[in-house]
Amino acid sequence: MGIAMKSKLLAIISFVVFGFSTQLMAHGGATGVVKERMEQMSDMKNALKILSDMFRGKSDYDVQQVRTQAKIINNHAGDALTQFFPEGSLTAPSEANGKIWQQWADFSALAVQLKSASGSLGEAAGQRAVAAPEVFLTMSMQAAPAKAVAPSADSYFKTLTKTCSACHTKYRNE
Ligand code: HEC
Repeated sequence: MGIAMKSKLLAIISFVVFGFSTQLMAHGGATGVVKERMEQMSDMKNALKILSDMFRGKSDYDVQQVRTQAKIINNHAGDALTQFFPEGSLTAPSEANGKIWQQWADFSALAVQLKSASGSLGEAAGQRAVAAPEVFLTMSMQAAPAKAVAPSADSYFKTLTKTCSACHTKYRNE
């Protein structure tokens, strides 16, 4: 094996080995409240993935499943979320931003918004958004097109995902 090929192989091996270990380390060293909230967040991530597959048509839409997953997120939202953020809890490898405690009212409002969006999603699970051609028809027949579309599971799902990312953009370091 030539030197060039050997070093190429080494580069691939170290990428695989170290690439994986960095991923493990991201949550690995966490302890206490930081570890707990990471676990809560991971639960929400799993629930969101199942929901997102259904709303994007990657898996069959199942009303009961939507309710179940929305409930998981609902249980982790509001006070259940903010209680895992005692002031100054930034121990490594936490990715939380110190602004959380300077802007606590805004941070907790996002946690409450997550509570209400996931609650509404559970309640509206049976109401899918009207398919595009129908919306078009309805809108062209109505004087106030903006009001033609009733709140649907789809719109609450959108609000839900926006709430996760709004909080991460502001309060989670990359
Ligand atoms: C009110 C703010 C807020 C909301 C809402 C929120 N998060 Fe987070 N999330 C955070 C913060 C802050 C962290 C960083 C925590 C840390 O590293 O200490 C985080 C971390 C995470 C992580 C990384 C966990 C880990 O193991 O490092 C995932 C995944 C995640 N959130 C998913 C979600 C999902 C999915 C939603 C919506 C369903 C959501 N979050 C809603 C604030 C929020």
